[in-house]
Amino acid sequence: MMITLHDKSFEPYIKEVAIQNRINAIAEQISDDYKGKTPVFISMLNGAFWFTADLLKNYDGNCEVSFVKFKSYHGTESTGTVTQSVGIDVDLSGRDIIILEDIVDTGKTLSVFLDELFKHTPASVKIASLLLKPNALKYPIKVDYTGFEIPNDFIVGYGLDYDGLGRNYKDIYVVK
Ligand code: IMP
Ligand code: MG
Repeated sequence: MMITLHDKSFEPYIKEVAIQNRINAIAEQISDDYKGKTPVFISMLNGAFWFTADLLKNYDGNCEVSFVKFKSYHGTESTGTVTQSVGIDVDLSGRDIIILEDIVDTGKTLSVFLDELFKHTPASVKIASLLLKPNALKYPIKVDYTGFEIPNDFIVGYGLDYDGLGRNYKDIYVVK
């Protein structure tokens, strides 16, 4: 079924069951990779809130979770200016960090965040992103755990928004 948000129509793209299966697989892989460790998951608000919840429900082992908030999008275009409104409020020195993102587009948001994160002298940093637009990448970001690689189309749902709307949908939709 199509959905309409503001002035645009969106059609189904990735179904809930496919999203959940992929996240379960990533959770299993991270659980294996971090066996015996207590990683800190850092979730990038707002978009990564579903991804964070579903991944952590399937993570097996001890872990911590913390949230930061950055913003770079206006409408359907990355603005290039990244602003932070919620920062790091836990001691990350010597910790194993796994950043959780909804989508890596140009990579600007993560490159700004990584610069700040490394000042906290973590032991290790990895990135898990539900979605990746490999052809949009402009910054040297290496995504260690990727859910789905997609073309440069604008998508919404499962945490992702178009000017504030669409985050609540269980499926992912692509603009018509
Ligand atoms: P980047 O800084 O260009 O990598 O953009 C990353 C952020 O832009 C993501 O965390 C999303 O919040 C947002 N974003 C990128 N692509 C899309 C999209 O297709 N739909 C909705 N939001 C997007
Ligand atoms: Mg985001």
